[in-house]
Amino acid sequence: MTRSAIRIAVVGDVHLRWDDRDVELLDAADYDLVAFVGDLAGYRRDALGVAASIARLRTAALVIPGNHDGASLPHLAVETLERRGLARLMGRGQPRRCRDLEAMLGPVPLAGYSLHAVARADLAVSVIAGRPHSQGGDFFAFSRHLERRYGVGSLEQSAERLCRLVDEAPHPRLIFVAHNGPSGLGARRHDIWGCDFRRAEGDFGDRDLRTAIEHARARGKRVLAVVAGHMHHRLKGGGERRWMVERDGVLYVNAARVPRIERDGSRFHVRLDTDGETARAELVRVLP
Ligand SMILES: [Fe+2]
Ligand SMILES: [Fe+2]
Repeated sequence: MTRSAIRIAVVGDVHLRWDDRDVELLDAADYDLVAFVGDLAGYRRDALGVAASIARLRTAALVIPGNHDGASLPHLAVETLERRGLARLMGRGQPRRCRDLEAMLGPVPLAGYSLHAVARADLAVSVIAGRPHSQGGDFFAFSRHLERRYGVGSLEQSAERLCRLVDEAPHPRLIFVAHNGPSGLGARRHDIWGCDFRRAEGDFGDRDLRTAIEHARARGKRVLAVVAGHMHHRLKGGGERRWMVERDGVLYVNAARVPRIERDGSRFHVRLDTDGETARAELVRVLP
């Protein structure tokens, strides 16, 4: 692939493992876009410091928020327990937290149900940011915030919104960026978005995102890649999940290698290259 290809850095679940050294490294690597697939925050701490550092990138970037971003720990817990009434009550602070995160990100957009573009030479690709704050499975989590900010109240409405974005995308070549990946890629714990925290395992991918991908293909658009995170590579109970799958000409990448910065100081991200016909991905480890 020549360098007229588009090159994107996909940064998986940061969970606070990000600093200005990453800014330096990624700015020096000649990327056309840095795509953060969410979960900047830790389990007990917000990501305002991380966001302030991301704002210093000279390379174009976008952040799609994960289920950890903008949620307090008790709020996240009740969403995980799928307690809708309590979750809506606990979610009252989410808009303010998201605004704080956005303010710290400065010029870097907090993406979600939004269209973006990336171009190099005469190649241009539309980037569709999926449902923000996804936490996988069939429960429509963070419904209060998604309704109020985005006007989306269910998985069905979410699918409709994503399909509309597909129709509105100015370029026929597409890349989807989401926090959690789509359904349809396996139901075993080690599958790319398979459930590793329930004994029954299962497909934990997002149905609304799958609908949008199939809609794009039916409309004759070229879906080059779908990049997301959320389902961490290291599995509960041991083992590693598949992080890259090619299916029907679409490259699926789960970039959630956690911790993103290892104890020895190695830093990880995924490099995605596309010439507009195909895409390929490589896990990049930068040694300290
Ligand atoms: Fe995560
Ligand atoms: Fe997540």
